[in-house]
Amino acid sequence: MSEQDKKEKNIILQMKHIVKYYGALAANDDINLTLHEGEILAVIGENGAGKTTLMKTLYGLEHPTSGEIVLRGEPLHLKSAAQAISHGIGMVQQHFMLFDPFTVAENIVYGREPKKGLFFDIKAANETVAALSKQYELPLNPTDRIEGMPVGLRQRVEIMKVLYQNADIIIFDEPTAVLTPQEVRELLKTMKNLAKAGKSIIIITHKLNEVMEVADRAMVMRMGKHIADVDIADTSIEELSMMMVGRKLIDKTIETIPAGEDVLKVDDLFLQGGGSVPIIDHLSMHVAKGEIVGIAGVSGNGQSELSQVLLGLRRADSGSITVCGQDIFNKKVRQVRETGVAMIPEDRYLWGSAREATISETAMMGHYRRPTLSKNGILYTKKLRNFAQNLVDEFGVKTDNIQLKTGSLSGGNAQKLIAAREIRQHTPLLIACEPTRGVDIGAMEFIHDRLIEKRSNGDAVLLISSELTEIMKLSDRIYVMYDGKINGEFTRENVNEEDLGLLMMGGKKE
Ligand SMILES: Nc1ncnc2c1ncn2[C@@H]1O[C@H](COP(=O)(O)OP(=O)(O)OP(=O)(O)O)[C@@H](O)[C@H]1O
Ligand SMILES: [Mg+2]
Repeated sequence: MSEQDKKEKNIILQMKHIVKYYGALAANDDINLTLHEGEILAVIGENGAGKTTLMKTLYGLEHPTSGEIVLRGEPLHLKSAAQAISHGIGMVQQHFMLFDPFTVAENIVYGREPKKGLFFDIKAANETVAALSKQYELPLNPTDRIEGMPVGLRQRVEIMKVLYQNADIIIFDEPTAVLTPQEVRELLKTMKNLAKAGKSIIIITHKLNEVMEVADRAMVMRMGKHIADVDIADTSIEELSMMMVGRKLIDKTIETIPAGEDVLKVDDLFLQGGGSVPIIDHLSMHVAKGEIVGIAGVSGNGQSELSQVLLGLRRADSGSITVCGQDIFNKKVRQVRETGVAMIPEDRYLWGSAREATISETAMMGHYRRPTLSKNGILYTKKLRNFAQNLVDEFGVKTDNIQLKTGSLSGGNAQKLIAAREIRQHTPLLIACEPTRGVDIGAMEFIHDRLIEKRSNGDAVLLISSELTEIMKLSDRIYVMYDGKINGEFTRENVNEEDLGLLMMGGKKE
């Protein structure tokens, strides 16, 4: 048998000429995808390119306008995810669908519980999960509760659920966006193990280093179209990024500018929280005009809570916080915002936007009180709409119509919209939490440029990010947060990755 024949033989799935319209927009425009047994295929492309839409079609959540899916040589017509699952197609959801009060095993077998007579056989469930855990080298304790589990473990439970359902095609849509670097390494290893065990894997990611590390092939999409199929062995990050965004990205060097007076001052902040160790432990820091100050840290060391306390979403026990000299300690969100604070929140769907609101409404939130946009509570509708449209255009948020629901935006485009709205508040202080989560490499460059521009205009930016490269590229100063405390500080000039990593793990600088 020739190499060509072997390959043909191993094809497990083909998507042929898939077209999907949303209204007048072709989210997928004649897409062809081939997947082989035991292969890891990366699907890459800009925000709004149509990656998620294509995977939803494969998982039975969307119905193509036209086109065909062929699974193991047979045509497949999917009406629901349940049908996809019964054909061995599984998807690890980005927003986990687990029940917190239940155990690992209960969640995994949910909907397909082993029975003893009429009753749920918990013992069998635990044993099955333990066996799967061993077989696929995915350490999990069947009787642990989901509540309080780190994201990486929750994701492992989701993967196990898919394996329990007997999937041999597993789809991951941006699985690493919410993971710590350690968790990313483990996940990539898991994927390789699964492929070795004969599973076929599709991964969507914006991180090209992950593509290079884990994938056998990549399929590139742009604006709903199929651009290229490439073998990873024959390509490079530069080539992939050229294919994705159609231009070369430039690595700029950023100069520190002289810092002005302090905008944000945090002194001896303390938050005990529910556990025995404090969440924020006597923390002091400051951010001045003309500075981007990064907070680096392994997630779970108090960064999220710090951002919530700063914006007034959560009360702290003691300490002081001022913005431009005004006390904002334990003030309400609205008061904090009026003092001159904007924030790109960590989870865009938790409170950054309502999926049901229109794109235009989401864009205006926090802006409509400006004198140019409203007067005595009367909104200038047309001006507001123009404002929203300009924001969308400037930041390249891809949508046909700003009167559509925010939930219709692709993940990265929703993130771009929130970033745009908050950066354009022009407040003295911007707190940017994971500002580029889920955005493509071109949009990342754009948002980075806007953050630098903001600080160069004399504002202060507090950057909280789990992406070390982002922290190191943008920050004029860096605090490392560990166990609720500041465990060291760097400047743009003296930072290096090794020391930073050491402090993030709780070590001390010489
Ligand atoms: N329910 C919907 N109604 C209208 N338009 C939609 C809907 N779902 C997706 N779209 C549009 O289809 C296009 C493709 O979206 P999709 O979510 O597939 O992009 P993506 O490649 O996954 O992007 P990202 O990298 O940002 O996640 C986008 O322009 C999006 O606005
Ligand atoms: Mg997507």
